[in-house]
Amino acid sequence: MLGENNIESNAGDLAPAHLVKLYNSGVNISQYLRSRHGVEQNSSEIIELAYELQAGSYVQRLEDPAVYEFQQGYTDRIAREIAALCAPVSVLEAGVGEATTLGFVARKLGVGPAYHGFDLSWSRVATGRKWLRSLPVGNVSLCTGDLAAMPYADDSIDVVYTSHSIEPNGGREAQILTELHRVAARYLVLFEPDYENASPEAQARMREHGYCVDLVGTAQRLGMEVVRHEFLPASINPLNPTGLTIIRKSDRPARAAPAEAVYACPVARTPLRRVEGAYFSPDSLLAYPVIDGVPCLREKQAIVCCKLKDIAGPA
Ligand SMILES: C[S@@+](CC[C@H](N)C(=O)[O-])C[C@H]1O[C@@H](n2cnc3c(N)ncnc32)[C@H](O)[C@@H]1O
Repeated sequence: MLGENNIESNAGDLAPAHLVKLYNSGVNISQYLRSRHGVEQNSSEIIELAYELQAGSYVQRLEDPAVYEFQQGYTDRIAREIAALCAPVSVLEAGVGEATTLGFVARKLGVGPAYHGFDLSWSRVATGRKWLRSLPVGNVSLCTGDLAAMPYADDSIDVVYTSHSIEPNGGREAQILTELHRVAARYLVLFEPDYENASPEAQARMREHGYCVDLVGTAQRLGMEVVRHEFLPASINPLNPTGLTIIRKSDRPARAAPAEAVYACPVARTPLRRVEGAYFSPDSLLAYPVIDGVPCLREKQAIVCCKLKDIAGPA
């Protein structure tokens, strides 16, 4: 059943084709959808639509030499921070967008770890998959997924990091930090808006856009071990400054698993089985389609397949 924050229709003034027209005429889509639904915070559906419409823009903006140079410095920093923590067997960027951060991080960290990324937006993930091939970077598995119900098993990825993806989920900080922490085996590394250290002008903009706040305080209240927080002065947008937060979960490495084996049903939280054209959960009886090579691992993308277990046969 759809909750009150969900988009309940793909028709009329909520039709994706209509939203594309609004987006092309300069309308802020998140603001439009929040006001259309009378809500103050962004739901996953609002964020998905807003980013679907932007798909391709991050790859395109790398053509600007200043953006490219900034991205090199930023991803140098992410790779350095991860390498200083441990030698991971697996690294996940949660809310990976078009993989324009993960791709460079993977290139800098090297071929050792298995890399993973997921995003709400299918089009952004599909764009990222294509761009990674052109970089070229291998050993990266991308899928769709939601930070609030991640499609990975508990303790399955050594280092889970985010880069401005918790950002638009203001109000759901505790739920999302809990999910990220559940999946991380060793460290959680957050590069997210630093509301507390931002200027009053930047804070006003963050509130207006429904951005996350107080990640450090929230993590501490949840009993997580925050080992470091640092305000990063260099930011591509001074009105959206970044803070680095490092949370230690354990010193125990995750067992190296084949890339596909780490996927878990976001509803049952147990491993997914690969079947023809989909991933299937024998526990929830939901099948998640694979579209053009992208596993679609969000609850709302699942199909109820009570008999698939019998039809597909034993694993
Ligand atoms: C500002 S972009 C950053 C993208 C990428 N991390 C990067 O560094 O280029 C934010 C991304 O987070 C994703 N995102 C936001 N909320 C999410 C959620 N609840 N679950 C999954 N992805 C989410 C958006 O779809 C978008 O692609």
